[in-house]
Amino acid sequence: MKKNINAIILAAGKGTRMKSESPKVLHKIFDKTLLGYVLDAVNKTNLVEKSYVIVGHQAENVENFVKKNYDNASTVLQMPQLGTGHAVSMVCSQLEDFVGEVIILCGDTPLIQEETLTKFIEYHRAQNSDLTVMSAIFEDPTNYGRIIRKYNEIASGNDECKSPESLSRNDVDSIVEEKDASPEQKKIKEVNAGIYCLNWQKIKPAFLQLTSNNAQGEYYLTDIISWGGKLGLNINAYTLENNEEIFGINSKLHLAQATKMLNQRIINRHLENGVTIVDTDSTWISIDTEIGADTVIYPSVYITGKNTIGKNCKIGPFAHIRGGVELGDNVKIGNFVEVKQSKIASDTNACHLTYIGDSEIGNGVNIGAGTITANYNHFTKVKSKTVIKDGASIGSNSVLVAPVEIGERANVGAGTVITKDIVDKALAVARAPMKIVENYTK
Ligand code: UD1
Ligand code: MG
Repeated sequence: MKKNINAIILAAGKGTRMKSESPKVLHKIFDKTLLGYVLDAVNKTNLVEKSYVIVGHQAENVENFVKKNYDNASTVLQMPQLGTGHAVSMVCSQLEDFVGEVIILCGDTPLIQEETLTKFIEYHRAQNSDLTVMSAIFEDPTNYGRIIRKYNEIASGNDECKSPESLSRNDVDSIVEEKDASPEQKKIKEVNAGIYCLNWQKIKPAFLQLTSNNAQGEYYLTDIISWGGKLGLNINAYTLENNEEIFGINSKLHLAQATKMLNQRIINRHLENGVTIVDTDSTWISIDTEIGADTVIYPSVYITGKNTIGKNCKIGPFAHIRGGVELGDNVKIGNFVEVKQSKIASDTNACHLTYIGDSEIGNGVNIGAGTITANYNHFTKVKSKTVIKDGASIGSNSVLVAPVEIGERANVGAGTVITKDIVDKALAVARAPMKIVENYTK
């Protein structure tokens, strides 16, 4: 498919109910921001050339995040925030001459998946649609905008849910917000998911004509539907198969719920791929973690950030993998072991009570219980690297003060504090000689 779509992501709102100093869209699930999930889903479709993120509340922070992480996205300031339609109109001048489709999403719906966006865009194209809105059927539609269809087959309470195919038939009349809806309209269970695909040149003029003549005194994006209807444009709704995907975050409770939903989805994917997960309820795996088949994840493991874990590894119980971690095959990361920003080659074990940070560890290394890579200097704030070569053995309760390198098949005696590099095959021991005092106890 052609890659000439622009995306607009609405993220100017305050998120009052988060009760937080941080802007809502910068809250995180695992190590990734809500906005990051949306931008990643958009980019993974491979159909979007550029994204415009509408910012307002704490604009600078959101702008910095976008600048730092996405080179095909930029921010556009909306100040004050006069509604979702007003938000989109902020981009009109930049897209004055753009010919193609624009998709619009919200920055606070992190569970949307690239496959769904792709299907949505394909549907829009197949229908030769001018404007397609994503809809969902909710048992409890409260607070959402309701989809009003011309032939209101699914108007009210007594309908059985129609299949998605039987909906979506170029008969969308308008969207009515909860606060503007009549009691009859409030019974409609098909809601606006807040994701749109538009033929930009045809719909763009609508943004100059929106009014705020409604219960909230806002410029509603949703009014583009009835605007287009009056002009006889081809307007469709694409009904979502999995409602979970448009779950919006408005509070810390929602954030926790979304984390659980996402985690479950990720765990299911790994189970399908042949990873063994002993306790799906106490295992947490971030979206950007790859895991090879036959790896076993024991209970109470927390894996965040971007990681690659090889085949046939054993992780946990009670392990913490913090991101930037690459594990080869047959690696053991045991209980109370924390690993971050480290490469560990195949057949290496760190089975108990260990911290591995900013390290590069070879094949067939054994890291004894209680080993610490001391990677951080609190005063200089500098983090340094530990290198452990193939086949080395690190005795229990050792501290490796980085930067430091342990040679191939070198040995570190238990209880040693290593402050100098150790050459291949050497033994390094630094501990007070043991004394035995006989007849010490009377
Ligand atoms: C909106 C839709 C509603 C839909 C729902 C789905 C409108 C008028 N209503 O309602 O039909 O069912 O989403 O979740 O669009 N925002 C801005 N600038 C603004 C106002 C909002 O950027 O001036 C952003 C918010 O940060 C948020 C998004 O737009 O990310 C949606 O705004 P919100 O106020 O949550 O709209 P809803 O009332 O939920
Ligand atoms: Mg909302």
